Amino acid sequence: MKTKRYITFLITIALTLSSSLALSSEKSLYDRIGGEKKAKEIVSDIWNNHSKNPIVKDRFAKSSPEYVKKRVFEIFAAATGATDVSYDGLDMKVAHTGMNISEMEFNAVVDDVLAACASNGVAQQEMNEVLAILWSVRKDIVNSNILTDNLVSSEAPSSSPSHNKEASSSSEKKVERDAHYCLTSLEC
Ligand code: HEM
Repeated sequence: MKTKRYITFLITIALTLSSSLALSSEKSLYDRIGGEKKAKEIVSDIWNNHSKNPIVKDRFAKSSPEYVKKRVFEIFAAATGATDVSYDGLDMKVAHTGMNISEMEFNAVVDDVLAACASNGVAQQEMNEVLAILWSVRKDIVNSNILTDNLVSSEAPSSSPSHNKEASSSSEKKVERDAHYCLTSLEC
């Protein structure tokens, strides 16, 4: 009789544990971060970080904080799996086209987002997932002419050890010139 009760007890524990494990692994990133309240606090800190970040603050000098926070909250919520928030703003490519955003600026924005997450107690696993989401929109935001990927791939590595120094330095100069042109022109 005692053994039967013990087995029933063990089965109950196992069922409770497995259902709570299933529930936690099904939770969206949005819910794991803390839902609407936490997401709004993070977005507010992202705005504050941008306003103090010398690399990007001028970009937002003429923006309305309420408008940017509203849109960034929507996209943050929708991208992390909120089911009750929809993003009503522009497509990322359309929103940033013509801004001539560099990778350095993109990285500065990523730093601001992750710093806001960290200061709001977001755990490392969730921070990694946020970073992966941000990284997935990098090519839509950064001026494609100055993506490091492009600079690297246009500089095909030499298979021979006697690398042609002249050809290398002239193509390096071209990359340098193109990058300079793109950083200073709104037309590329
Ligand atoms: C890292 C990923 C980024 C995300 C997810 C993001 C998201 C957004 C969103 C949702 C909007 C509003 C679009 C709309 O008006 O409908 C926006 C606008 C804008 N973004 Fe980004 N952005 C990112 C990176 C950047 C970077 C790197 C810069 C430049 C440093 C930048 C500068 C701007 C500016 C200046 C606006 C216009 C704000 C305004 O309307 O006043 N963004 N962005």
